[in-house]
Amino acid sequence: MEKLIIEGGRPLHGVVRISGAKNAALPLMAATILTPGRHILRNMPDLRDTRTFVRLLENLGAKSERTGDTLILDTTHLLHTEAPYELVKTMRASVLVLGPLLARFGRAKVSLPGGCAIGARPINLHIMGLERLGVTCRLEGGYVDAAIDGPMRGNVIYFDNPSVTGTENLLMAAVLAEGTTVLKNAAREPEIGNLVDMLNGMGASIEGRDTDKLTIHGCSRLKSADCSIIPDRIEAGTYLIAIAATGGSGTVTNCTPAHLPSLLEKLRGAGLMIAETDTTIHISWPETVGEKPVIGNVDIKTMPYPGYPTDLQAQFMALMALSSDTCVINETIFENRFMHVAELHRMGAKIKIDGHFAVVSGRGLHGLSGAPVMATDLRASSSLVIAGLAASGRTEISRIYHLERGYENLIEKLTGLGAKVWKEQE
Ligand code: EPZ
Repeated sequence: MEKLIIEGGRPLHGVVRISGAKNAALPLMAATILTPGRHILRNMPDLRDTRTFVRLLENLGAKSERTGDTLILDTTHLLHTEAPYELVKTMRASVLVLGPLLARFGRAKVSLPGGCAIGARPINLHIMGLERLGVTCRLEGGYVDAAIDGPMRGNVIYFDNPSVTGTENLLMAAVLAEGTTVLKNAAREPEIGNLVDMLNGMGASIEGRDTDKLTIHGCSRLKSADCSIIPDRIEAGTYLIAIAATGGSGTVTNCTPAHLPSLLEKLRGAGLMIAETDTTIHISWPETVGEKPVIGNVDIKTMPYPGYPTDLQAQFMALMALSSDTCVINETIFENRFMHVAELHRMGAKIKIDGHFAVVSGRGLHGLSGAPVMATDLRASSSLVIAGLAASGRTEISRIYHLERGYENLIEKLTGLGAKVWKEQE
């Protein structure tokens, strides 16, 4: 068990390069199951979750080779169609093998992911969609045991709410189906666009990229993939907020500003100056000679894309804990995504929770003080890192394995921005 130590109170300055997106890498790796072959995935981040997914695919019989940030997955000789509880319990996204295994083999046995720190997170919409394609799903012994004789049959599938991995699973299931499938009220996150590009590059025929209506014309054969993973918009957002919260200035490179419309609007609303190019974002505070920046209070409401991302809610709350006034944060996606609040309280933050709402009374730029705190999930832990960077004194964050699931080279990147941060054994 390791902990992260931060000597806070230093403004971050400089340049930070963004890695490939975790939430695009995982579905793209799953899609390599669809057809036997050597698949090339470029700009692959090296994270605890991507390593777990490689183990999951190797468990099915795949071979993998990694050179720098290029991962080659050879799925020619897959022998199994089961995703065991031991792997799925460490990473819910393992459920993404369900659709592609059924499309290729007509059979899949995948452990149910179980509960999660941020909410119940059922997969009923994934199962509903597969059943609409003709699959029989039996829930037994904590597993989904699914099968179909012959190819799936295209159909219209309506999502009660736009599930990201639900959309991805059904997209992958439908590409080899007989006939046409239409996904309605589908999710539109940029990571889904990345998957659509990969599948169309493999010979699939999918229309409606970036909209909530995806039309998949089933085909009988696919070829192996060679594609690139998009930059991680959540990692980019995390660094932008960290720079802002420390009163610093800097440039985030190798990112896609167009994937962060709501965040950039909210940061401007908080008083920051934002300059974008196609692949970089420069962030800074207006020059006020001899005065420290004043962080404006801004309300947020998390929504499916292009609304404000729930994966940047905790980080923005850390920023608002340093603002000059009060704001309201409304978390509409997950029912239990305020686990970071109790830890921010330990650093002096003033936050009241009422169901899906959190009322944050800012303490000003230097209003927090360092403390020992505990990470509870991936994004909650990054909000504690931001609070620790802004706080005076030392912060110790335990259970940092949560951070390693989704942030590549975090310590190197923060040190590159002038932060004083290191790891120690617990
Ligand atoms: C994806 O999770 C992301 N994970 C999450 O990022 C992200 O928070 C989430 O989308 C929302 O943007 C990956 O892409 C691997 P959903 P996913 O299905 O697909 C309910 C991170 O920090 N729902 O869009 O699991 C669900 O409970 C992670 O990187 C059902 O009720 O999320 C939730 O309330 C955390 N039934 C809502 O829909 C279903 O069958 C949205 O969930 C599916 C979902």
